[in-house]
Amino acid sequence: MRVVRLSNSDEVLDELPLLASESEFVIADGPGSQTETSRALLLCADLAVIPCKASMMEARALSKNTSFVRQAQAIRKGPPDAIAVLSMVGRGYRLTKDMREAAMSLHLSLAETPIILRQAIADAPGQAKFCGNMGFAAREAARDLDTLFRELFPKIGLETASEIRMANDGE
Ligand SMILES: Nc1ncnc2c1ncn2[C@@H]1O[C@H](COP(=O)(O)OP(=O)(O)OP(=O)(O)O)[C@@H](O)[C@H]1O
Ligand SMILES: [Mg+2]
Repeated sequence: MRVVRLSNSDEVLDELPLLASESEFVIADGPGSQTETSRALLLCADLAVIPCKASMMEARALSKNTSFVRQAQAIRKGPPDAIAVLSMVGRGYRLTKDMREAAMSLHLSLAETPIILRQAIADAPGQAKFCGNMGFAAREAARDLDTLFRELFPKIGLETASEIRMANDGE
């Protein structure tokens, strides 16, 4: 895995297509505060994953991000696909239901799998690790993230498996 820092919208628009042509997947983390960079990412992305906390403040942020997505979709006549993911939620259902309603009113799909507020996720950046490499204490967080990414990219495992089979058959 290669990590690259693109620090402004020009760098994103110039370099992201090159990175995409060299890689199987490019995952970009948009800076919440810098709107131009986020817009540039949306002009390149196949899929926009929009994390949102389950509070009304975040519902407003979701509405702003959604309007960026709609603008990019209008310019590009289709892409990117967009999906909201509930982030830092407790296990209570009330807030989750509010956000489901907020997402529905924005005509945005909402991932079934939320990211639950967990100590291991808060600890991961400080340890410079992924939850999947943090052992037993992080197992539930790692499982949540795995479930989420399987939901977001349902075909990846199958495609990879069939590609491997085809490659083996060709030998
Ligand atoms: N699911 C979670 N469980 C526990 N803590 C979390 C979770 N998600 C985020 N956090 C905490 O919140 C902090 C900020 O989260 P994160 O970096 O994802 O926010 P962000 O929206 O990307 O912020 P920025 O706009 O600065 O990029 C993290 O360092 C972590 O401590
Ligand atoms: Mg961030």
